[in-house]
Amino acid sequence: RGTHNILVASNRGPISYTQDKTGALTAKRGGGGLVSGLSAIGPDAGALWVCSALGDGDREAVRRGVGEDGVRMLDIDADTHAAAYNDIANSVLWFVNHLLYQTPLEPVFDKEFRRQWAAYETYNHAFAEALAEEAAEGAAVLVQDYHLVLVPRMLRELRPDLRIGHFSHTPWAPPEYFRLLPDDIAAKVLGGILGADRAAFLTQRWADAFTDCCHAVLGPGIPSGTRIGVHGLGADADFLRERSHRPDVDERLAVLREQIGTAPDGSARKAIVRVDRTELSKNIVRGLLAFRELLEERPEWRERVVHVAFAYPSRQDLAVYRDYTAEVQRVADEINSQYGTPGWTPVLLNLKDDFARSLASYRLADVALVNPIRDGMNLVAKEVPVVSDDGCVLVLSREAGAYEELGEDAVVVNPYDVSGTARALHEALTMPVGERAERTKRLAVAATALPPAQWFLDQLNALEA
Ligand code: G6P
Repeated sequence: RGTHNILVASNRGPISYTQDKTGALTAKRGGGGLVSGLSAIGPDAGALWVCSALGDGDREAVRRGVGEDGVRMLDIDADTHAAAYNDIANSVLWFVNHLLYQTPLEPVFDKEFRRQWAAYETYNHAFAEALAEEAAEGAAVLVQDYHLVLVPRMLRELRPDLRIGHFSHTPWAPPEYFRLLPDDIAAKVLGGILGADRAAFLTQRWADAFTDCCHAVLGPGIPSGTRIGVHGLGADADFLRERSHRPDVDERLAVLREQIGTAPDGSARKAIVRVDRTELSKNIVRGLLAFRELLEERPEWRERVVHVAFAYPSRQDLAVYRDYTAEVQRVADEINSQYGTPGWTPVLLNLKDDFARSLASYRLADVALVNPIRDGMNLVAKEVPVVSDDGCVLVLSREAGAYEELGEDAVVVNPYDVSGTARALHEALTMPVGERAERTKRLAVAATALPPAQWFLDQLNALEA
């Protein structure tokens, strides 16, 4: 039995280490909702964040006993971690919940899958044991996401005294899709989460889908005391407003303005901005195709608009992600060679991660394109209206969780409908300035309704209730 009263568990932790050639370790802190949520409860609350060592730097830090108060990194065997993270979490559970399979060929649940699943169980078990060891009597444990769906049940068995919550940051699949999983695995995924006192989601839609899956897979009278909750994580207005006006952002804003340039008639060009991880579910390629169709169907926009697309590297261990990144690059190049002129590059694609530049692009965007196939929430949709200098029209997929809160003031698209998305871009570009400003204001209010700190506290309080 340990000493901590509040514990968070997630695959990716708040800190990561890189090792240089001399062997020196450098720590890098991550951002995000959980980090600001945890910092809001203060250092005296006895909180501990249990996470996984992800790279060689992290592993070396664990071996040397380098670390930070309030964080425990688990050095799980690299092959076990790779199978759990790449093969099960990212290639199966992520794919199921984002409806990403090309079903005539995939998925194939064979012997190899069973081996990977066993690694996923081992990995989850390592978390459950660490949490059981660290938690004080009756502590609250908040388990995060699809990497750790088995932990609530495993932990409950080790420590029945704990209050356990699970939070899904992803969508949840409808039963007919979820049941692509082998029946025993589907039951384990659901049963794992149902080991928690409370299972929470970003939107009512995902919560309902989870309940539907429980009924379909486990039968109508599921014997479970698990309560279901919804907490729609919002943008952190204070942080964003301050951060987006620092000198490094101003510098990048000037560079971007220069790159976007002015139309032949001297007017400033419009900017359609998107910022994503290069992630299959983000639908970047169809976004580019829609932009191309806009230029084809509405020649008046040629030379007068630029598509700024920031697509940051993600999950590059997986071939499908590398292929997708290459396809994004290919289509962007194709559009540029088809339509570009000496003074105008239609698509400004950048694959190098730069948070300050992202914020600069939010400030100048005339239109923000957020068109995921499916998305738990999508915080870009919530951040842009907060940061925007002069108002920005949000073109938003109806399949993003953010749609539930922002749908009324966005221009809404079906993410598969490229022509519809092209029309939505035109509508967004031509929206009267006054209306655009009004909508941006309302979007910013809705987007910040539940800031990260409150989101985190709400979960803790709900677990105590
Ligand atoms: C996104 C998802 C989260 C997920 C995270 C993991 O942010 O919304 O649900 O936990 O990706 O990303 P990673 O880079 O750690 O694979």
